[in-house]
Amino acid sequence: MDSIAARFPALSRTVYGKRLAYLDSAASAQKPQVVLDTLMEVLGGAYANIHRGLYYNSAETTATFEAARERMARFLNADPRGLIVVRNATEGVNLVAQAWGRTNLTAKDAIVLTEVEHHANIVPWQILQAEIGFEIRVIPLDVLKASTPENIKPYVDGAKLLAITQMSNVSGLKPDLKMMIPLAKAAGCVVLVDGSQGVVHARQDLSTLGADFYVMTGHKLYGPNGIGLLWGNPDVLEAMPPYQGGGDMIDKVVLPLGTTYAGVPARFEAGTPPISELIALAAAADFMEELGWDVMAAREHTLAVRLSAMMAGLDFVEIYSAPDTGIVAFNVKGAHSSDVATLLDQQGVAVRSGHHCAMPYMAALGIESCLRASLGVYSTEDDIAQLEEALTKAHQMLV
Ligand SMILES: Cc1ncc(COP(=O)(O)O)c(C=O)c1O
Repeated sequence: MDSIAARFPALSRTVYGKRLAYLDSAASAQKPQVVLDTLMEVLGGAYANIHRGLYYNSAETTATFEAARERMARFLNADPRGLIVVRNATEGVNLVAQAWGRTNLTAKDAIVLTEVEHHANIVPWQILQAEIGFEIRVIPLDVLKASTPENIKPYVDGAKLLAITQMSNVSGLKPDLKMMIPLAKAAGCVVLVDGSQGVVHARQDLSTLGADFYVMTGHKLYGPNGIGLLWGNPDVLEAMPPYQGGGDMIDKVVLPLGTTYAGVPARFEAGTPPISELIALAAAADFMEELGWDVMAAREHTLAVRLSAMMAGLDFVEIYSAPDTGIVAFNVKGAHSSDVATLLDQQGVAVRSGHHCAMPYMAALGIESCLRASLGVYSTEDDIAQLEEALTKAHQMLV
């Protein structure tokens, strides 16, 4: 077995008696042994609730948890004062929509989204829009793919927020954030970047990205599920009211009224946080940095090129994504995506099919659903060969 893949126990599973070709890392990545070990160490070791207990184990787990926050801040090169522990990226966007949006948006305002957003970066804004009545401007796929300051400016001019993905989960498309963020900031927008996919494939430097908010989710980053991070510019966060109430977000609680709230980031961390999950996410960050961004990028690029070339060689598939991103969105001509996915599954190939929580992107492509094969750091040539063989068989059976 490949030496990196060998560090991910789930990849040695067989399904239907066949080798597993796991090609759904964009949905959720597998976990290296060190992440599993870390979870065991925390949950079977000094585990206790944090920030509250005066006893030994609680103090130790609190220190480990806060060290993990610092670790993730270093991973993102972000000010740790702005790093809020949430359950996933979806919760991060909802937090910004409810705490920042409710305070800062009125019926006279506009916000800007793009057609390629994951529903997690659409629906929280629509829920708020139904209450407040602001305008939602949408940058279409075609404009985004050929973005220039001239064609983006009309969208951000006069808007209060740009909420945009760093990398599409459907196609790997990366909007030109280097151009768009300064443009949006100059127009007076607050900028939220959905880094759920982007954070997996390139070293992040939030100190220079220029965004006010950045959300990511741990389970795609080789960490556990149930853990996500929202980074916010501490100055912007300080001016925001709480999102949820209870637990560590309080300063002093008074009845019937008069409760005051903690500072940042505790104000946004109501209830018991994902303790072991954050600590294990920090272990995933260690794992990635120990492999090295350059090594991971070179490996992923080689395989992404191989995957795209293999797919381009199949004349019975229609491809919707740009080449060499590590994500291929496609359909088998004349067959429904779910029928193809079922036949691939029976041959040990795990890919995603459906709308990928991106119905507006599907609409822009003129389709209802598609298949998606996505690579992780552990993917191999064997996975791609297995996909090719399975797709060829599925095509023969269905069409
Ligand atoms: C681009 C993007 N944003 C947001 C999300 C939501 O992630 P989560 O379900 O972990 O909140 C996903 C997950 O598929 C995603 O790919």
